[in-house]
Amino acid sequence: MPWLERKVQVLVLVLVLVLVLVLVLVLVLVLVLVLVGSYSRDINTEKEMEIEMEKDIENVESLVPVPLSATRRHLYAVRTPERLELTYLGSSSSSSSSAGPAAGPGSGFYAWLSMENDRPWRRRRSYTAAPGPGSTQQQVSALSTVYLQQRKSDSQLRLAAHCTLLHSDPCCAFPCQNRGVCTAMRAPTYECDCTRTGYYGQNCTEPEFFTWIKVTLKPSPNTVHYLLTHFKGFWNIVNTMSVLRDAIMRYVLTSRSHLIASPPTYNSDYLYKSWEAYSNLSYYTRTLPPVAKHCPTPMGVLGKKELPDVKVLAEKLLVRRQFLPDPQGSSLMFAFFAQHFTHQFFKSDMKMGPAFTEAKGHGVDLNHIYGDGLERQHKLRLFKDGKLKYQVIDGEVYPPTVASVGAEMHYPPHVPDEQRFAVGHKAFGLVPGLIMYATIWLREHNRVCDTLQEVHPDWDDERLFQTSRLILIGETIKIVIEDYVQHLSGYNFKLKFDPELLFKDRFQYQNRIASEFNTLYHWHPLMPEAFHIEEQVYSYKQFVFNTSVVTNHGISNLVDSFTKQVAGRVAGGRNVPGALLHVAIKSIENARKMRYQSLNAYRKRFSMKPYSSFEDLTGEKEMAALLEEMYGHVDAVELYPGLLVEKPRPNAIFGETMVEMGAPYSLKGLLGNPICSPEYWKPSTFGGSVGFDIVNSASLQRLVCNNVRGPCPLASFQVPDLKETGSVIINSSTSHARAGDVNPTVMLKDRSAEL
Ligand code: HEM
Ligand SMILES: *[C@@H]1O[C@H](CO)[C@@H](O)[C@H](O)[C@H]1NC(C)=O
Ligand SMILES: *[C@@H]1O[C@H](CO)[C@@H](O)[C@H](O)[C@H]1NC(C)=O
Ligand SMILES: *[C@@H]1O[C@H](CO)[C@@H](O)[C@H](O)[C@H]1NC(C)=O
Ligand SMILES: *[C@@H]1O[C@H](CO)[C@@H](O)[C@H](O)[C@H]1NC(C)=O
Repeated sequence: MPWLERKVQVLVLVLVLVLVLVLVLVLVLVLVLVLVGSYSRDINTEKEMEIEMEKDIENVESLVPVPLSATRRHLYAVRTPERLELTYLGSSSSSSSSAGPAAGPGSGFYAWLSMENDRPWRRRRSYTAAPGPGSTQQQVSALSTVYLQQRKSDSQLRLAAHCTLLHSDPCCAFPCQNRGVCTAMRAPTYECDCTRTGYYGQNCTEPEFFTWIKVTLKPSPNTVHYLLTHFKGFWNIVNTMSVLRDAIMRYVLTSRSHLIASPPTYNSDYLYKSWEAYSNLSYYTRTLPPVAKHCPTPMGVLGKKELPDVKVLAEKLLVRRQFLPDPQGSSLMFAFFAQHFTHQFFKSDMKMGPAFTEAKGHGVDLNHIYGDGLERQHKLRLFKDGKLKYQVIDGEVYPPTVASVGAEMHYPPHVPDEQRFAVGHKAFGLVPGLIMYATIWLREHNRVCDTLQEVHPDWDDERLFQTSRLILIGETIKIVIEDYVQHLSGYNFKLKFDPELLFKDRFQYQNRIASEFNTLYHWHPLMPEAFHIEEQVYSYKQFVFNTSVVTNHGISNLVDSFTKQVAGRVAGGRNVPGALLHVAIKSIENARKMRYQSLNAYRKRFSMKPYSSFEDLTGEKEMAALLEEMYGHVDAVELYPGLLVEKPRPNAIFGETMVEMGAPYSLKGLLGNPICSPEYWKPSTFGGSVGFDIVNSASLQRLVCNNVRGPCPLASFQVPDLKETGSVIINSSTSHARAGDVNPTVMLKDRSAEL
């Protein structure tokens, strides 16, 4: 059979090839061994010197001469936490009084670079750094330590040379574009992994054909935003055409959530993929890995060696001079919903540090209502009819007291026992707005239990409780998408919560909260200067940790007042209330600890063009100049300060970056919930059609109306009749903060003392 013969032929050929290869390999090995052998013989005596030198360097704090043998004297070492500089001054003729560095031809060094600090003798490599003619400086790239030696055989060593060891990991410059992954190879080279980015080339900058078409046709985020927030008549028609509406909503969901890595990748301690980063739920994940500690500057290679002083930054750019209302008219009802809702998944672990979370559910699990963990949940449960414990004050239902249930809460000592409400989240005593929402949701849970019990008289406490919890999760997601995000987006397109839209797509029903998402959600500029409830005005001092505000006014009046009071604008700069400036400062400090990449790095990660200048970022000149002075380079501006000073979109609460980054995290977190998966998303999961209907008809207004006594007040995320109240002046000329006549420093001191 001829094909068999062919096979044998091929086999023989392969065998011969393998043999030849092995032979060549052996030869090369022998050669290398011989070479290395002679080489090491040559330097053997100096090995000891190197160790000695290494020891000395360990102890050198500043410029100190390291004693060397007669022929290599005057080696100076300067050691800083970031780099090690070795300076050799002298000559082989050993005239010890060398005035300074002088270069000569043919001079050089052998430098052995070790890749790891703790094991300097492994993976040693020789490196020759010969100064160019006339040059006294030669930079040697390495990752950690360098060992210097005079070239022995060189007879012309009449020079002094300066060898600086820079930790120039090429990945510090973030050379890989379009989400390519940088891996440093043998310094100074690197590799960009462009797999599935749609790009190729050394730095993943060359688009593949289809990518090119997509990029060319794709409108910018600002264009899309413009289209969606204008042409109301057009959208009103689209909103009534369910096929079109579904298609657009599906596109919104998939295009946004595709920007989120799922399963998650990095965390604040792992710059590369690892099982630990994937599996350890105590960490927030990271969308962009941290800047490596050995990089020349905090943002990689650009910008200044030191980031600006946080307090100065906060006082010059962040603190409010004069209250700037949100032109979208967000109400305090919105602001407190945001705070209440997000604190179930932004629960930083104060003991472990900002990179860690206590909310291991990483999503909408309603632990802020039911408590984190069984122990706390059981303390809050009534164990009757599925309900949560409660108390009745003036004929209305409120959360129970800490004393009566034993669930720990954070209250300052001056709060009397009867005003210490116990709810799912330990910190919700902080502001009456949070206790208001906690009360509303507690009433809703118990109400849903009653509704379920009516149709399922046979169900036990456990089943009523568990099913009600799933219903409340569904209601929350519904309200967040159709009321909350709808308001925030300002879209004339009507958003829709419908998990079925994703059933034909590949979509991962899982979520991991990113640290960057937490950081960007620090929307403290929403908070006003004082809180107007009925006829009263509360300062921060009177408002914070004052739960009696809730019982004194009652839920109905609180909803009414919070709906009428406008919140502050988040972007545009200088709108963080003095009383909360310390929180903004903390956010920046934490981001630095976690070594966040720059604002522009995040813009690229989320498919936006990086800002080309400071004025491009702020849209004005004054703050741009201050930023330039502080950061030096626009690519070095930090994420959080950048988000707060970013130019807002016209008549909008946020700038482009906040929306383009926030929306993907948000939608992924909402739709990634298990109740949105095909196996869960059906009536039986929610106790039948009654429960499913509660989910599918949920709205903020209904939530309030179902749970307040008497006539229900208007509940809205947007202040009604904005212009009539006169509290908002929508004026393009006021789109930016101006330095008012208030001295922010004085204000800061006053306000901080209040809390
Ligand atoms: C008067 C109202 C408010 C006060 C007194 C307040 C105070 C605080 C404080 C003290 C922290 C902890 C800072 C730290 O040590 O790291 C914090 C964190 C935070 N705040 Fe506020 N805040 C208020 C309103 C808001 C609002 C309206 C939002 C809107 C979303 C918000 C979002 C956040 C977020 C996301 C965190 C991070 C939570 C974490 O990592 O655990 N806050 N706030
Ligand atoms: C890739 O990036 C590096 C560093 O930014 C640059 O020096 C190099 O020229 C780039 N290569 C290509 C092919 O653009
Ligand atoms: C997660 O990582 C932290 C920090 O390394 C560690 O203390 C903790 O024990 C880890 N958790 C688990 C479950 O492994
Ligand atoms: C708390 O609020 C009540 C009214 O609701 C007010 O009378 C009281 O002064 C406030 N407490 C503090 C410490 O300001
Ligand atoms: C509104 O803008 C106009 C010019 O466009 C300006 O003259 C006026 O002072 C602005 N009003 C406020 C309250 O800033």
